[in-house]
Amino acid sequence: LPQHTCGWTKGNITFYKYQEFWISKSHLEANILAQQSFKAEPSDVFLCSAPKTGTTWLKSLAFAIVTRERFDKSTTPLLTKFVHECVPHLERPLVVEYEDIRKNLSLPLIGTHLPYSSLPESVISSNCKIVYIYRNIKDVIVSHYHFLREGSKLPMEDAPFEEAFEEFCHGVSAYGPYWDHVLGYWKASLERPEHILLLKYDDLKSDPKSNVKRLANFIGCPFSFNEEKAGVVDNIIRFCGFENMSNLEVNKTGKLKGSIFENRFFYRKAKDGDWKNYFTNEMKTNIDKLTDEKFTGTGLILK
Ligand code: A3P
Repeated sequence: LPQHTCGWTKGNITFYKYQEFWISKSHLEANILAQQSFKAEPSDVFLCSAPKTGTTWLKSLAFAIVTRERFDKSTTPLLTKFVHECVPHLERPLVVEYEDIRKNLSLPLIGTHLPYSSLPESVISSNCKIVYIYRNIKDVIVSHYHFLREGSKLPMEDAPFEEAFEEFCHGVSAYGPYWDHVLGYWKASLERPEHILLLKYDDLKSDPKSNVKRLANFIGCPFSFNEEKAGVVDNIIRFCGFENMSNLEVNKTGKLKGSIFENRFFYRKAKDGDWKNYFTNEMKTNIDKLTDEKFTGTGLILK
């Protein structure tokens, strides 16, 4: 497979190009295994994303929605268990976990970064519901830079942002090219709107209430009038918000088994427009032009 080692990470991160997308060396085997051996059940709900687009947030919101009868501030598992354990990723091939999820959750939630074209065939043929979260590309670039940098244990002065930016523009990022990742789900959502919901991180931020309700409706757990009146939606939004989640002990310490990424790396700033602190005018012009070229005629906006 074509291979690329990110120079700016001092050689710590290597990607392989597998089925048109760059996948990190440490995830490649798990991806192929999951893709070839995972058998989806029609009731499974997939929470899909490219990295750094709001995966962690989407997982906590969906988990809180599905478990809301048990969900209150003192008993939810989200207080004591890292959200990526509550809702594991497909490409961590622990079969037992999937069975546990199906046993424990009325609606099994499974995360994945796999591009739409690489999803296990049974996810499509079983008509599983798919929620895809995406985010403006500039903030994704900054978030991705910090995540790989921290995973590589590099201070900012040893990790030139300009190089990370250039690589991203050339499509080299975790599960990149990012544009193609988004386009795959976007096109599929136009063809199969009843099975695929797209949510934009930026919209979720500016209008959490209607987007959380859209999410709940789509996965088949709509809020009743009485629940809304009782503040259940607001509680879920507050609980899953960055302020609360990033301050929980479980999210400040520890890391997933075998991962170089500590839990706290998944909670950085969560600010819209942080890219303005990193991009030169030229970078902004270049990325906007590139994005326009990639998305001409699609109606998609990632700026
Ligand atoms: P920043 O690096 O811009 O802060 P992912 O979960 O896909 O890896 O994405 C991580 C990004 O989502 C990070 O963005 C992180 O801070 C942000 N994030 C994590 N939890 C969040 C939450 N509850 N609400 C909003 N953003 C959140």
